[in-house]
Amino acid sequence: MKKQWYKDMVFYQIWPRSFKDGNGDGMGDLLGVYEKLDYIKSLGCDGIWFSPLYPSPGVDCGYDISDYMDIAQEFGGMDAFKKMLDGAHGRGMKVIMDLVVNHTSTQHEWFQKSRQRIDPYTDYYIWRPAKPNGKLPNNWDSLFEGKAWAWDEVRQEYYMHLFAIEQADLNMDNPLVREEVKKILRYWLDLGVDGFREDVITFISKPEGLPDDRLMPASKGIFMFNHGPHLHEYLEEFKRDVFSKYDCMILAEAPLVTPKKALEYIDEGNAPVLDMMIQFATQEADSFMTDYIHMPFNLRKLKRTYTKWQTELDGKGWNMLYIENHDHPRMVSRYGSEKFQKESAKMLAASYLFQKGTPFIYQGQEIGMTNWYPSDPEMYEDVQTRWQYFNVATKRSPEKRLQRLWHGSRDAARTPVQWDGGENAGFTTGKPWFYINENYKHINVADQEKDEHSVLNFYRRAVQLRKELSCVRHGNYQEYGKLSGTCYTYSREDENQKILVVCAFCEKQQKWKVPAGFDLDAAELVLRNYEKVDPSVLKPYETRVYLWKK
Ligand code: GLC
Ligand code: CA
Repeated sequence: MKKQWYKDMVFYQIWPRSFKDGNGDGMGDLLGVYEKLDYIKSLGCDGIWFSPLYPSPGVDCGYDISDYMDIAQEFGGMDAFKKMLDGAHGRGMKVIMDLVVNHTSTQHEWFQKSRQRIDPYTDYYIWRPAKPNGKLPNNWDSLFEGKAWAWDEVRQEYYMHLFAIEQADLNMDNPLVREEVKKILRYWLDLGVDGFREDVITFISKPEGLPDDRLMPASKGIFMFNHGPHLHEYLEEFKRDVFSKYDCMILAEAPLVTPKKALEYIDEGNAPVLDMMIQFATQEADSFMTDYIHMPFNLRKLKRTYTKWQTELDGKGWNMLYIENHDHPRMVSRYGSEKFQKESAKMLAASYLFQKGTPFIYQGQEIGMTNWYPSDPEMYEDVQTRWQYFNVATKRSPEKRLQRLWHGSRDAARTPVQWDGGENAGFTTGKPWFYINENYKHINVADQEKDEHSVLNFYRRAVQLRKELSCVRHGNYQEYGKLSGTCYTYSREDENQKILVVCAFCEKQQKWKVPAGFDLDAAELVLRNYEKVDPSVLKPYETRVYLWKK
């Protein structure tokens, strides 16, 4: 029987460049992480997911890997990694790595040899000759910049890149490539890591013949390569040959996945090939398809998605829970309110931390960090963001185009963690590699440590409560007041206890009536974000958790 330790855990996601600089060169690193292990533990987190730490030219901030078997010098190299890993394990924490094998950096040795047709690397990537009519091999788009094909002068052929031009897609149909992947997996598992977060893993199997997508341009080609013909088979192979031999956890990033589709991979009763998947649907309550197409926040849409995932997986599959990561702007600025930063950050925490699944907290989320609004598009670092500004919607005014980035850019969540109100927000003693959000003087860890009512201490209490209550792990999920566009209410119940979680997603005060069947007089109010509570009224972004013991 596989141990399922991840079901009892809360994970913390580290995006290494911006977490904490330990050596004063301005870039976050593993020395910085090592210093902060007790802090992470103090949140009640017992696992860490690291965004890529490997050597990389940094075109996509580490998601373009040039060596899978090493740790980048800028993060402290292998020694710093081992020290951090021991430190984490010593505190009873698990560590999972990012596995990015849909593509490699074009600087990777495999690509450099493949472009020269040096065996065995010749067919490691997806190469196609030019067509006599001058057209590209097919009509797919890159998700980051331009079309999905780039011309290589050395090989005199096109290679596929679903992401940046410097991220060449691997040919996973080549068994030698799959052996390389397994070598990488074994290497890190033997070193002691506890699992992987698999980057866009649902894209690794491309359809035979790479046919044109007839839904272009709207679809960008994504329906052609998402959940491709051999995906399940390759995941099964990785599981059979590697994962089944270790006590590890596998979390797969899965754009567009539905609960029904997810169950093809995570149904525990049906030889699952993955443990959990990262869905995107809960990120789409204020956007359409991508964060750049911004719409007014729609709570009903969010609630439908939450409830759909909670109920359709029930009794069959387990999943991860998150509201933030390094690919989306900050939630307080999106589903919450910067005006009610403190209240809404806490409410957002309660809205997902008591659902069934394994919660992930993204660095800075625990203090309610907000979006970053640079005055000049040149200040953006992210390759995708820059393409969006300089090549998309170019007919609009510069102001409108900049606002589009404020809503859509991932860089909003990539500014350094605000540790204190001092110079560079305590992130570095040197010159920070990136801009620091100007609000660090009033949103930072040091101040919140001292304040019993801070967002930080709310997170700690919520996580602790989650761990104490058996109903949060296994209990039944039920939603109330589905039609409300301003309030999300759900309960969790098992044989020991029942909780009711109430979340006001609104700047205005609203009336509230306890759902039928709940007796507030018999309940204990175990978590709240206002000192004084009026049972019949919800204040702006108010949240409460009531507990009934049986
Ligand atoms: C995933 C990562 C993202 C990266 C992309 C390409 O979506 O989360 O940060 O840019 O894959 O690797
Ligand atoms: Ca550093």
